Amino acid sequence: MWVTTRIVAAFSALVAAVSVSASNDKQQNASAYNLSQLRDRLGSNGTKSFEIPTRLPNVSFEIPPSWGGYEPVSNKPNETRQIYFWMMPATGDVGVNDFVIWFNGGPGCSSLSGILSEEGPLKLDPVTYVAKSNPYSWTNLTNMMWVDQPVGTGFSRGKALNQTMEQVAEDFNGFLLNLYKDFPKLRGKNLWLMGESFAGKFIPYMAHQIYKNEKENMRAGIQLKGIGMNDAFFYDDVIGKELPAVQFAQQNAKIMKLNQSDVDQLVRQGKEIGIKNYVEDNLKYPPAGPLPVPAQFNSSKSVYSSMKKMAKKANPCFSPFNIPGPSPCHVDALGLDPTTEVPHKYNYFNRNPSVKAIIHADNVSYVECSKKKPFDIMKDSKTGFPLNTVLPSVIEKSERTVVQHGTYDYIMLPNGSALAIQNMTWAGQQGFQSRPNRTLLVDGKPAGTFHTERNLTLVMVDKASHMIPVYKPKAAYKLLQYVLGQISEEQLSTKD
Ligand SMILES: *[C@@H]1O[C@H](CO)[C@@H](O)[C@H](O)[C@H]1NC(C)=O
Ligand SMILES: *[C@@H]1O[C@H](CO)[C@@H](O)[C@H](O)[C@H]1NC(C)=O
Ligand SMILES: *[C@@H]1O[C@H](CO)[C@@H](O)[C@H](O)[C@H]1NC(C)=O
Ligand SMILES: *[C@@H]1O[C@H](CO)[C@@H](O)[C@H](O)[C@H]1NC(C)=O
Ligand SMILES: *[C@@H]1O[C@H](CO)[C@@H](O)[C@H](O)[C@H]1NC(C)=O
Ligand SMILES: *[C@@H]1O[C@H](CO)[C@@H](O)[C@H](O)[C@H]1NC(C)=O
Ligand SMILES: *[C@@H]1O[C@H](CO)[C@@H](O)[C@H](O)[C@H]1NC(C)=O
Ligand SMILES: *[C@@H]1O[C@H](CO)[C@@H](O)[C@H](O)[C@H]1NC(C)=O
Ligand SMILES: *[C@@H]1O[C@H](CO)[C@@H](O)[C@H](O)[C@H]1NC(C)=O
Ligand SMILES: *[C@@H]1O[C@H](CO)[C@@H](O)[C@H](O)[C@H]1NC(C)=O
Ligand SMILES: *[C@@H]1O[C@H](CO)[C@@H](O)[C@H](O)[C@H]1NC(C)=O
Ligand SMILES: *[C@@H]1O[C@H](CO)[C@@H](O)[C@H](O)[C@H]1NC(C)=O
Repeated sequence: MWVTTRIVAAFSALVAAVSVSASNDKQQNASAYNLSQLRDRLGSNGTKSFEIPTRLPNVSFEIPPSWGGYEPVSNKPNETRQIYFWMMPATGDVGVNDFVIWFNGGPGCSSLSGILSEEGPLKLDPVTYVAKSNPYSWTNLTNMMWVDQPVGTGFSRGKALNQTMEQVAEDFNGFLLNLYKDFPKLRGKNLWLMGESFAGKFIPYMAHQIYKNEKENMRAGIQLKGIGMNDAFFYDDVIGKELPAVQFAQQNAKIMKLNQSDVDQLVRQGKEIGIKNYVEDNLKYPPAGPLPVPAQFNSSKSVYSSMKKMAKKANPCFSPFNIPGPSPCHVDALGLDPTTEVPHKYNYFNRNPSVKAIIHADNVSYVECSKKKPFDIMKDSKTGFPLNTVLPSVIEKSERTVVQHGTYDYIMLPNGSALAIQNMTWAGQQGFQSRPNRTLLVDGKPAGTFHTERNLTLVMVDKASHMIPVYKPKAAYKLLQYVLGQISEEQLSTKD
């Protein structure tokens, strides 16, 4: 049992002792990390109260030194709304001037699932809950931060408001300004906003806000370079889920355990609403013009929903996050049920309440995905989605924008991203002019397809789920090197 306060206190004492004499090689319990060097990368005298020890309950190995805590979303003296963050320095020789902020989606999901199960230094096994170290931790490549935002999410403090994406972005910018004040070493770092799923709705708005508020951000040292979005909702559900649904059924019937009569029914249903051959007829390079929504289209006759019902009937543990399964009917280590998509209170933080104090989070019941509805969720497909609003200008202002999609994702269909890009106009042209056809190589083997035009890259990652770093950590790692400019586009298709 790790979780008595006595042992936790012992951990803190140990860490303090080690950091004091970190330069003594013969120290018996020397840390795996050069703590003073790594703390010095982002920390300073003023950041000591945010320091987190390298030992966590129920984790048998060290994690890098890190900082965690709260920053308010504005500098109003009476501000009560505060965002929780957990930040780690780059642990290697590269990326010391880069700073990646990762967002899980939701709406309202905590990004701590990113640190503990995706691209952080540890992975909590979703079945056994045992922590394993992650050799593909993004901290090898860059300074990283995970945040629980907007307010109403994870460990954040204050009242969840039903906010628009613009308001969420303003709060986030306010939070960043305060963070950079407390962590002056962040100033001037190359900032990249990255995330998955619903984060595709707010990341472009955050980037837009940061570019718009340029003077204040420049003064504060906030230097945004670009964005990355995985399996991301930067478009509406019609283009993302419905229009590519029949093709997805035909291509993935076996994997989803759909039989021929299921597929035949979906094709009939698709024909009735005019989408039977939608992808074949409309995913063109260059696009023939604005992509149409068929006149017969009726979202009440959703092929996407029918297919999901069929898949669940064939396999009660079918997980839309990762179509092949058989996903065991379990609750993941952070408490999300991948089958029902419903969050559960049984999770790492609630099972080990002492962790909360160690990471400077409030002693509240943690829910991976909040039910407090912090967002005014966009429903109207005509307005508000980033591809129709702020995304084009964000791409134009950024060094790089990278859109990735796992081909085993059923939360958002892969060709939804491809169709959306073909219907978006940026840097003076609509869509890609050439069909994506370059092969991503990982370990010298084909692992996906990619293509870049006008500073936007699309990557289809073969056999990756909704959470690319969970199932394809090595591909995700290589793609992060590309986002950060550590490898060239050429190198994506050469041996690593
Ligand atoms: C150092 O580690 C050993 C074994 O891992 C342990 O027995 C010992 O108490 C530790 N020493 C200190 C000062 O924590
Ligand atoms: C830790 O890094 C510092 C430089 O930041 C260096 O001076 C010191 O020798 C390193 N300590 C060890 C044990 O490698
Ligand atoms: C940090 O604190 C140490 C002693 O506590 C002091 O020697 C040093 O000058 C301080 N550094 C800065 C940048 O204030
Ligand atoms: C803070 O004060 C301002 C005016 O001074 C007021 O408009 C605002 O509602 C207050 N906010 C909170 C959270 O109390
Ligand atoms: C984690 O700690 C809890 C007690 O807080 C304990 O019941 C559980 O067995 C531990 N799990 C692992 C995988 O060590
Ligand atoms: C990341 O860094 C760790 C520690 O230095 C190392 O063991 C691991 O191999 C690195 N991972 C990759 C993919 O290079
Ligand atoms: C494509 O964009 C146009 C606006 O340029 C819009 O009217 C149309 O609905 C979009 N098509 C789809 C399938 O979303
Ligand atoms: C759409 O389908 C629903 C369910 O079949 C039906 O009730 C509705 O009338 C249809 N709407 C249109 C515009 O055809
Ligand atoms: C196809 O699968 C569905 C769902 O599992 C089942 O209800 C149906 O009986 C199957 N049809 C045939 C022809 O096997
Ligand atoms: C959020 O606000 C919008 C209007 O801006 C409203 O349509 C919606 O019902 C509200 N949602 C909640 C959960 O209050
Ligand atoms: C792509 O970004 C670079 C700066 O990184 C810029 O110089 C160039 O004009 C951009 N190209 C397009 C087509 O926007
Ligand atoms: C891929 O597309 C480019 C045009 O962008 C074309 O020149 C090339 O021949 C294509 N390669 C393959 C293998 O189809």
